[in-house]
Amino acid sequence: MEHENARAESVKYHKRTGLPLVTLKTAMTLDGKIATSTGDSKWVTNESSREDVHYMRHWHDAIMVGIGTVLKDRPKLTTRLPHGEGKNPIRIVADSLLRIPLDTPLVTTATETPTWVFCSDQADKEKELQLLKYDVKVVRTGSDEHVDLKSAMKYLGEKGVTSVLLEGGGQLNWSMIEASLVQKVVTFIAPKLLGGEESITPISGEGFDRMTDAVQLKNISVQKFGEDVCITGYVQDIQISDK
Ligand SMILES: NC(=O)c1ccc[n+]([C@@H]2O[C@H](COP(=O)([O-])OP(=O)(O)OC[C@H]3O[C@@H](n4cnc5c(N)ncnc54)[C@H](OP(=O)(O)O)[C@@H]3O)[C@@H](O)[C@H]2O)c1
Repeated sequence: MEHENARAESVKYHKRTGLPLVTLKTAMTLDGKIATSTGDSKWVTNESSREDVHYMRHWHDAIMVGIGTVLKDRPKLTTRLPHGEGKNPIRIVADSLLRIPLDTPLVTTATETPTWVFCSDQADKEKELQLLKYDVKVVRTGSDEHVDLKSAMKYLGEKGVTSVLLEGGGQLNWSMIEASLVQKVVTFIAPKLLGGEESITPISGEGFDRMTDAVQLKNISVQKFGEDVCITGYVQDIQISDK
């Protein structure tokens, strides 16, 4: 029911703004790490938390990661529910120069589950044609450097995508926050301590210099999944108004 309510919330938000509602989902240890310095992240949270994430995927129109995560983890980003198949969201990758390998699961399975890659105007045209042969949709966002994330969200909104589940990694998460494109944050916290200056954190990038600049979340709710805790908060008062 809770996920169905979130779905209704994003449909309403899309109707009002023309943009998808973006939810940043992270899973971290109590000391704020999502993976070890070697990149080992299986698993941070327990089975019950991970099952809930698959329900989140089921109810979202799209799921988004950066090319760093694709190169490192070769994810499938599909929905795996305990009692059979769920609905797979459209898989979105921010990949300025189309570095995505042709043999990665997001490409090889694009015929069954859509994969859309957003890139910059500098991306190789030949690689674009190769990806098209695998049914991967390539969208140029008009920028010369990184993917223009505002244009990407506008494009998704125009295509009727009402909700995006942002699953990282840290660089993309930061850029989406910096561009004020995240409306909701869902953080699963496992009661584990990992330590390590080189361990990976959920949001990287430059970060803000002053505590007063930190993004303040509102309307906080807390849930427990076994011994894990999940905190949900909103960046803006998005769910209130029908204007
Ligand atoms: N445990 C978890 O929950 C979890 C979840 C996700 C990831 N991870 C881990 O996170 C690590 C990868 O993190 P990451 O930060 O390197 O990768 P990332 O955020 O997935 O990807 C970063 C890349 O995205 C591309 N990009 C395109 N447009 C961008 C923009 N506007 N802003 C920022 N980036 C943009 C950039 O490459 P180009 O310039 O080439 O486009 C950038 O290097 C992996 O170790 C992975 O296992 C863990």
